Parts: sequence; C-alpha cells; structure tokens
Amino acid sequence: MKYVIANLKMNLLSPRERDQYLVSLAKELKKKKINNFEIILCPPFVHLEAFAKNRKKNIKIGAQDVFSENKGSYTGEISPSMLKNFGCEYVILGHSERRRYFSENNEDINLKILAALKENLIPILCLGETKAEKENETTLQVIENQIKECLTDVPRSKIEKIIFVYEPVWAVGSDLNPTVHEIMEAKVLIKKILVEMFGQNNIKNVRILYGGSVNSKNAKEVCLDPDLDGVLVGRESLLPHEFIKIVETISNS
Ligand code: PGA
Repeated sequence: MKYVIANLKMNLLSPRERDQYLVSLAKELKKKKINNFEIILCPPFVHLEAFAKNRKKNIKIGAQDVFSENKGSYTGEISPSMLKNFGCEYVILGHSERRRYFSENNEDINLKILAALKENLIPILCLGETKAEKENETTLQVIENQIKECLTDVPRSKIEKIIFVYEPVWAVGSDLNPTVHEIMEAKVLIKKILVEMFGQNNIKNVRILYGGSVNSKNAKEVCLDPDLDGVLVGRESLLPHEFIKIVETISNS
C-alpha cells in the first residue's frame, strides 16, 4: 500500500473554492484505475468537516496541526478530541513551516505526538535538515535528534502507528529535490534509530515517506526505492489533475 498525503496548507479560501476542489478531485480519481493506495487529505481546520463528509473510498482526512491539551482555556487552539470527532484520522506534526513561523521545537512536537496518540490520531511526523545543516554536513545528527526528542515517552506498542516523512527543509517549496541516494540514506537512518529506540520487532511495519517539491514529473524518480511508502505533496496537491497523476505514478511504482 502506498500513501500520498496532500498538505493543502493555508489555501482554499472559501466554501465555494473548497467544494470545487473536492468535486474536481473526485472526477480525476474516477477517471483512473488505481489500486493499493491511500490518499490522506489535510485541509485547513475550517474545512475538515466538509472534507470528512465528502470523502471517497481510499481517502482519509488529516489535520495540519493539533494542540497538546485536549480541552480548556487555550484560546485559538484545536484539540485531538475535536479532530477525532470531526472525522480526522491523521495529523501532520513537526512541519518545517510550523518550526519556522511558529517557533515549534522538538519538545512541543513531542507533546503533540503524545496527545494525538492518546486520542488514536495517527501522527505524520516530518523530519529533515535545513540548507545550512546540510551544508555543514550535520544532516544525520539533526535527524537523529529530531527523532529522539520528538519520540520521547512514545510507548513501544504505538510506534508503528506513526508515519514518518523525510522532508528536507530546503526541498519544501523550492523545486529542489534530494537524490534518490540521499532519500534512501535518510530512510535507513530513520529505521536504524527507531530500531535502537524501540527494538526491531516493534518497528517492522513502520511507514516512511518522502516530502518536498514532489510533482507528477519527478514522482517516479523520487520513489525509485520500492521500500519507500509514499510521498507528502504540498503545492501540487492543490491541482487535482496533477495530484491524481502523482497518486497513479506512486501506486504503480
Ligand atoms: P511542497 O510542500 O510540495 O510545495 O514542496 C511540501 C510540504 O509542505 O510538505
């Protein structure tokens, strides 16, 4: 099974725009015969309910963030229970845009992961190095720290629930991609650290994806490694035709 996650970010500005998107996505999907895939659509909070109501076969719904407390006086925040009750099954956590614009750190992300797991939401954890970290050749160290700090206190029994995405920060929104070798190297590293932390038996089914400037032209190349479980798509997920082409490419690879 391959996973294709759509991070719609802060787009689809009105109910009308949202409905048009959902209709055209359904149309594009109907045109194709694709097997063995799961699409996870992650719209802004205000659209979650409508997306969940309109979801088609093989489509699941995710949020782009969640707060680490479940209820109470936290103005402006959205809790794991709320997401669950509005039809969400997944939540993206640790995205580099949240680190950059909202100063989220590994400790914040860890609390969110624990809160999400408690409510049976599946965290989609983004990991990856900045351009400066890559240039300083500290990529492996950075990813190792992110994993160790973000996964503190995660029970062994829950680790396989989490979806990991290798998303080099410099590849997000930039039209740059790492080489297939670099993606494989990151995947191997993620697995190695998970084995050290949680034991081989507990991580056998862990899913690792790639994200960062994926489009219908580079999807095949990016997913050359048959063990890669899929991709996370930003900008191109706003174009239903292109997005479904990516799903088709990935599922057939
Ligand atoms: P992009 O975004 O595909 O536009 O680079 C990826 C992401 O936000 O994860």
